[in-house]
Amino acid sequence: MEKNISKNILITGGAGFIGSHVVRRFVNQYRDYHIFNLDALTYAGNLENLKDVEQATNYTFIKGDIVDTECINDLFSKNKFDGVIHLAAESHVDRSIANPLSFVRTNVLGTVNLLNASLELAKNNPNFLFYHISTDEVYGSLGEAGLFTETTPYDPNSPYSASKASSDHFVRAYGETYQLPYVISNCSNNYGPNQFPEKLIPLFINNIIQNKPLPVYGDGNYTRDWLYVKDHAQAIDLVFHHGKKGETYNIGGFNEWKNIDLAHLLCRLMDKKLNKKEGTSEKLITFVKDRPGHDLRYAIDASKINQELGWEPSVTFEGGLEKTIDWYFDNQEWLDHVTSGDYLEYYKKQYQA
Ligand code: NAD
Ligand code: TYD
Repeated sequence: MEKNISKNILITGGAGFIGSHVVRRFVNQYRDYHIFNLDALTYAGNLENLKDVEQATNYTFIKGDIVDTECINDLFSKNKFDGVIHLAAESHVDRSIANPLSFVRTNVLGTVNLLNASLELAKNNPNFLFYHISTDEVYGSLGEAGLFTETTPYDPNSPYSASKASSDHFVRAYGETYQLPYVISNCSNNYGPNQFPEKLIPLFINNIIQNKPLPVYGDGNYTRDWLYVKDHAQAIDLVFHHGKKGETYNIGGFNEWKNIDLAHLLCRLMDKKLNKKEGTSEKLITFVKDRPGHDLRYAIDASKINQELGWEPSVTFEGGLEKTIDWYFDNQEWLDHVTSGDYLEYYKKQYQA
């Protein structure tokens, strides 16, 4: 390990979508930190996401499960982390409907395991910080108006959001009960390079490339607030370094889209990219059975992080989508690798038109 290391930071879930952008940012921006990436490499984790940093001298990958207490305790006692940025999770709502227990296992038990190991380190290090990455879905569903703020009561509706809400509560409880220094952020829907093609945007890009149907759940009048993943990674950097301990920060781009309008926009951008006549990809839009317990609308009020930490998104939605589409075109091999298993079989059965 290099000399002159000022901090050892553990990032969990660093081989996943958002985690890989956070790992890259920290490894490149903070050469005096040593970044440890702990990831179980589930279907959603992929070391190809981090090819460009794997040789960095301030980076170490560890394959391990956050639910495995022995592995976690061993890792924490050997490395004396100064901070943990916790992203590892089961993250897809549809999968949580099919298999809630795996979400309880990783998102709740795994988080508590990390909290327990963190207590030991925090005892001897007043600067220790546990940073928990969460979602706006813990707040439940909005009607046609209003925004989620940091004081909106928790009201989760899906097994995914219930498991994330539970983990948020545990983090706060460890802060109150054991004085564990923590910070939490709750972010809106992310999109960008490296997102597993089961989530709306990469699934639709991939399906258009392959001329497959674009399954829109229900009538498509559901709203999500979209943020480019690198803007989220930058917000995480700011909150980790400057967030107030014991606080929550909402992160979002003030960028609400109804799913059906987003599907039309993606079709238009993809027709342009593929040099096809406008209207070609739209023909793939197919309305399918709705998701059970489907939240109508998510929208974040990101004023607190803007006013207190000066954060704002830097990428426009159309610009971000164009970058994302270009990335999936340039990385067809990545797409082939991650879609080579039977990971979509469950989904095809449940959500066929
Ligand atoms: P992802 O599914 O792409 O990646 C999750 C990563 O965690 C994978 O690399 C996986 O291998 C790893 N992992 C899963 N179970 C593990 C376990 N038991 N032990 C160790 N590693 C394990 O998820 P993502 O979309 O990058 O989300 C990352 C975090 O951000 C999650 O906590 C999620 O709840 C939160 N979040 C996501 C979004 C979004 O739009 N994707 C929005 C807000 C918050
Ligand atoms: P998703 O990307 O799964 O994120 P989340 O459920 O965490 O918000 O879905 C985004 C929205 O798109 C959500 O309203 C469900 C909808 N959706 C579809 O209409 N079709 C699809 O194939 C998928 C994956 C999602």
